[in-house]
Amino acid sequence: MNVRPRVFVTREIMQEALDLIDQHADMEVWPDEEPPSPQILREKVANAEGLLTNIMDRVDAQLLESAPRLKVVSQLAVGLDNVDVAGATRRGIPVGYTPGVLAKATADVGFALLMSAARRIGESDRWVRDGQWTLAFHPMRWLGVDIHEKTLGIIGLGQIGLEMARRGRGFDMRIIYHSRTRRPELEAEYGLEYVDLPTLLAEADFVSLHVPLTPETHHYIGTPELRQMKSTAVLINVARGPVVDSAALSTALKEGWIYAAGLDVTDPEPIPADDPLLTLPNVVISPHVGSASLVSRGAMCMLAARNLVAGLAGRPLDRCANPEVYETRAN
Ligand code: DGY
Repeated sequence: MNVRPRVFVTREIMQEALDLIDQHADMEVWPDEEPPSPQILREKVANAEGLLTNIMDRVDAQLLESAPRLKVVSQLAVGLDNVDVAGATRRGIPVGYTPGVLAKATADVGFALLMSAARRIGESDRWVRDGQWTLAFHPMRWLGVDIHEKTLGIIGLGQIGLEMARRGRGFDMRIIYHSRTRRPELEAEYGLEYVDLPTLLAEADFVSLHVPLTPETHHYIGTPELRQMKSTAVLINVARGPVVDSAALSTALKEGWIYAAGLDVTDPEPIPADDPLLTLPNVVISPHVGSASLVSRGAMCMLAARNLVAGLAGRPLDRCANPEVYETRAN
């Protein structure tokens, strides 16, 4: 008798993706809004061959330790800062993730935040709803900063960073970037200029963050970096909250070292009600919705399901974050 593999899905996802998994495995889906606690997660994976996670689940050494049968971890996200990928590799477990399918949607939100912060859309919307729009028009009210023909500085030229650059090109912006890896082929194709970090911070009117969260990028933007930016500059973060030192950012926005910020991610998440950022008019915050379009989330769910199913069958994953795992296995 063929025994079907067991999988645990840590949150409700699109039905189509669940249907695909259902064809290949016995599946349990965590029904609650709140994520399973680490202890429950450990219990759930104790006999599971597959695990489908998202950014709220901690897949650490302890969890992997308690999952002796695990053949695949499939993360419903491009970011993997909640997953011990190296630990999974050591155990021969491939880790799936969902790059590509969410880059455009996330850049859309990045650009929406950029525009909103520059032209004070969030702030003015609150003002209108507060009943303060009592004078139809005043020549000196609600002045913001221009977007078109300004300089957009991209930090991290991965897929999302590149999509952000393409949107900037549509606004006739000069695009400068700083990235771990220089990309001459993209520079030629999209008219990008590679610069060092101090140059980017000094010259950009918009600084947009697209780096993964790692020990090296924790507080990548702090007081010294904010001090190097123009007083008219806008900071955009659609990457991970802890890439920016939040306390330093509050000070910078309050004291006018920079003009404004647009954040889709905060540190911590959700942002606490008493966070000083929430008292500032010149910051616009969305609740980590970069990839939250119907089409993108659908594509993410399907890709995560395909990765999971491939891993269960011992096939290479469509998108694997640790392809070296296959070499380790072969040896
Ligand atoms: C990601 O993919 O890493 C996002 O933060 C969640 O969609």
